[in-house]
Amino acid sequence: MKRILILIQALLALCLAAYATAANVPATVTKVCANCHGADGNSESPMFPRLAGQEPDYLQRQLLAYRDQTRANPAAQNYMWGMAKLLTDDDIKQVANWFAAQAPVYDKQPGAGDDRGRMADAIFRQGLPDQGVPACATCHGDRAQGTSIAPRLAGQHAHYIESQLKVLATGERPAAVMMQPIAQKLNEEQVAALAAYLGKL
Ligand code: HEC
Ligand code: HEC
Repeated sequence: MKRILILIQALLALCLAAYATAANVPATVTKVCANCHGADGNSESPMFPRLAGQEPDYLQRQLLAYRDQTRANPAAQNYMWGMAKLLTDDDIKQVANWFAAQAPVYDKQPGAGDDRGRMADAIFRQGLPDQGVPACATCHGDRAQGTSIAPRLAGQHAHYIESQLKVLATGERPAAVMMQPIAQKLNEEQVAALAAYLGKL
């Protein structure tokens, strides 16, 4: 599996290098990204985060963090370090703006109305004062649509949100100084409930 992954990555890197020499960035570059993130940034596979409608500054900072190898969880290393290495500052800016400008798709399923959904909704809107967890909406926006402070979470794959909340509790995303203490205070049940809830917003 790992070997196949490295092979795919090498092939994509070759395509990207060829594309990057062409004048038309980001259209040519986003074709490479589309292999995983979807043609319009709305990936189907839960393995790959959705980028459409994401905050442009956030996307730019993440690509820089992959390129300087500070965002360092295993999936970042396996998938994104090689990609980001091939992008110039200008490519990063243009590609970030392009994905940010794509319309996000929302999961069509109705919001979870069960106990688990209600628990997540309460954490999202009010936080967990007893555990010292602030309301997610304060930074991420009241519809989790993203703000200049924090990224969009609405409609993101639940699998990705769950994986990142676990990563954010470690030191593997050192730029996430605001999120680390929050992620550390959430238990597994709360993380799973929040991920399912946010994916459906
Ligand atoms: C081989 C699959 C693959 C390709 C090709 C790929 N990515 Fe990714 N990308 C991923 C995976 C997997 C992650 C999640 C990594 C992690 O956990 O940090 C990711 C994460 C990201 C993130 C962070 C999203 C967030 O919400 O924090 C950005 C931004 C991104 N990719 C942009 C790009 C761009 C731009 C390209 C094209 C130059 C690209 N990716 C090509 C697999 C891919
Ligand atoms: C004090 C502001 C703040 C609060 C409150 C907050 N966040 Fe965040 N969150 C951020 C910032 C800033 C980032 C981006 C970190 C970075 O740049 O790496 C982030 C990133 C994230 C990410 C990663 C998104 C991605 O695309 O990789 C998830 C998931 C997340 N937050 C979930 C939550 C949840 C769930 C809550 C509520 C329990 C919450 N956040 C509360 C500021 C906040």
